[in-house]
Amino acid sequence: MHARLRQFVNAMTALVDTTADEARIIREGGALLRALVEQDGWLPAECAQPDPQYYRQYLLYLDPRKRFSVLSFVWGPGQSTPVHNHTVWGLIGMLRGAELAQSYHQGAEGRLERSGPPQRLEPGMVTAVSPMLGDIHQVENAYDDRVSIGIHVYGADIGAVDRAVFTPEGEARPFRSGYANA
Ligand SMILES: [Fe+2]
Repeated sequence: MHARLRQFVNAMTALVDTTADEARIIREGGALLRALVEQDGWLPAECAQPDPQYYRQYLLYLDPRKRFSVLSFVWGPGQSTPVHNHTVWGLIGMLRGAELAQSYHQGAEGRLERSGPPQRLEPGMVTAVSPMLGDIHQVENAYDDRVSIGIHVYGADIGAVDRAVFTPEGEARPFRSGYANA
């Protein structure tokens, strides 16, 4: 493991050893993630490979007690996620390229409604999702001619978490993401 990623993992481990408070983890973990993604050059090439058809997520580190996982999220040109949730806190840091994230909430009769305009993440920027902050979104590569890569941190072994993707009517369908390298 590259020293920069090792340093981040050690600091995150110290943080979750200290507290289980979600707001504090998002605030302090977000600052740690910002320090990680403000500099490129440490992500292994095998965890930066896009797939021609779908976005990919590679597991970079899993806490032995599954209190957090660290992933590289690799977008091919123009690729996007369905509308989905997480069920645990998540931190999203941009490493290369850019991504657009549209937040949703469930409005009248459970229908999904956009929560404001999409947010554009540029390299070095960090944002958060969680059941407290708003947990439903749709994300896409901001570019249709190049790869973008985000570094994501979640408060669980996110590849094994039972989550949901949503139809436009707000109907939840079971979803488990797995990992491209598992
Ligand atoms: Fe997400």
